[in-house]
Amino acid sequence: MRQFNEDTLTDAVVARLKKTKNPRLKQVMSAAVKHLHAFAREVHLTEEEWFEGIKFLTAVGQKCDDKRQEFILLSDVLGLSMMIVALNHKTAPGATEATVLGPFFAHGAKEYGYGADLRQGATMKGEDVWVSGRVLGTDGKPVPDALLDIWQAKADGIYDVQEPDAEFELRGRVKCNAKGEYAFASYKPKFYSIPMDGPVGDLTRNTTNNHMRPAHMHAIVSAPGYQQVITHVFVQGDPYLDGDAVFAVKDSLVAKYKKVSDAAEAKKLGMPTPFLKLNWDFNLAPAGKAKARKVIAPSDAVA
Ligand code: BEZ
Ligand code: FE
Repeated sequence: MRQFNEDTLTDAVVARLKKTKNPRLKQVMSAAVKHLHAFAREVHLTEEEWFEGIKFLTAVGQKCDDKRQEFILLSDVLGLSMMIVALNHKTAPGATEATVLGPFFAHGAKEYGYGADLRQGATMKGEDVWVSGRVLGTDGKPVPDALLDIWQAKADGIYDVQEPDAEFELRGRVKCNAKGEYAFASYKPKFYSIPMDGPVGDLTRNTTNNHMRPAHMHAIVSAPGYQQVITHVFVQGDPYLDGDAVFAVKDSLVAKYKKVSDAAEAKKLGMPTPFLKLNWDFNLAPAGKAKARKVIAPSDAVA
């Protein structure tokens, strides 16, 4: 086969994939070729423009290491991460909705029990918040011994893993008790900018300029016999709820932080007066045949 033009080239490339042994690889590659060619045809891509594209993708790769994942960030700002979540993690009735994992998850956070203080060792103060609630099944019954993997940014909007030589901060694996209850002290999350010092930042500045994420805490909630959920808890009233850089906001995940000025209550919980209280329940669907979502840290992608 030879002598291809813009009308016959796509079929020729797809035909060449016919011998691909893995049927899923064949399907995905054939569709990728068709869509890439259609894209080039639609915008009549020039060689200079495609070389700019190649330089951009090269820069995205060069920005990645075991702590920084610029490709995850790119997937997030293009809405591809949330598209893949929507396609693959349909919410069972009554279950907590899933969102993006984002590029700042880290394996191996310290394990804590009920009443943990995630502010321990924090290098920066914030508004004190007592977070408590339950992990329930979709039937409303408590799920005993669930585990919450929690992480959030510091008051300056930077995650511990973005700092050189950082210790884990505002991050921990909090075990629920046998009644499915959890509680921990932390700081109220604040809105922050996605990392803008790399090629994805340049792209964002040159296009939408939507670089802010509304304040949130991340949680991965898991328990034996239940579908794990990777989710966020957002802050009611945040100015960026409608413009999230990564399209992850769901109404069902927006929570109200209440101010508590009762000194006796503060003392009982070991909190200062006043403090904030967040009461939040997570609901897990039965595991059924669903595959657990892969939890990927930047270090996994370079291994
Ligand atoms: C995050 O919430 O940590 C995050 C998610 C996607 C892109 C950047 C940050
Ligand atoms: Fe985040």
